[in-house]
Amino acid sequence: MMIYDILSSRYATKHYEKGKKIPDEDIRYVLESMNLSASALGLQPYRFIVIDDDETKEKLAEYSFHGIDVADASHLIVIASMKSVPDGYIERFIERTEKLRGFERGDLQELEDLTKKIVHSIDDQFTWTQKQAYLVMGVLHIVAPERGIDMTPMEVFDREAYDRILGLEGTNYGSVLVGVLGYRKEGDPDQKLAKTRFPLSEIVSHFPKNI
Ligand SMILES: Cc1cc2nc3c(=O)[nH]c(=O)nc-3n(C[C@H](O)[C@H](O)[C@H](O)COP(=O)(O)O)c2cc1C
Repeated sequence: MMIYDILSSRYATKHYEKGKKIPDEDIRYVLESMNLSASALGLQPYRFIVIDDDETKEKLAEYSFHGIDVADASHLIVIASMKSVPDGYIERFIERTEKLRGFERGDLQELEDLTKKIVHSIDDQFTWTQKQAYLVMGVLHIVAPERGIDMTPMEVFDREAYDRILGLEGTNYGSVLVGVLGYRKEGDPDQKLAKTRFPLSEIVSHFPKNI
């Protein structure tokens, strides 16, 4: 299917078929694809936390956006971003780049220095790392429905409660976004709703003159 058709037919699914599990290989495909998302400087300042046990889903449901049947979904993927990017992490990233690209340690010193300089110049690093999480969510929007999985992104949830339940409290990571994944409930009326989008004529303009 063309990506345009996937985007046209997917929708933010609120009601899931309880007990219908996404196969492990499909979850793996989704995670590998999310891991290919671009991120600023390539740093991937985030982690993906996969939840599929009913007890945790039920606990998290209490602190989730109430219109989404989180407990009925097959899997939740929480994207948690770094609150700040430590120098040691940048060093590991450069080391890995050198190794994977066949360089000696130290060959990419200039890149390491530049990366640190850019990161140090960012006042609010958590805001910056959260932007990277939103990009990953864009990838998830495409690869989940490509694999026949329904999903909805969720940014309205109690982050503190999620962090507490997921053991992130006191760590350098904070939950930012949740991908709620599963299979749409048969007869879910939302799937029949027309997409509400403004026409391109309102969204796009050409500079210096409209064509
Ligand atoms: C970054 C992001 C966060 C969202 N957070 C929520 C949310 O917390 N609760 C919710 O019900 N829908 C959420 N949505 C779903 C949007 O409301 C939905 O994508 C939008 O209305 C367009 O509908 P469609 O995805 O069905 O085309 C979110 C979407 C995005 C892209």
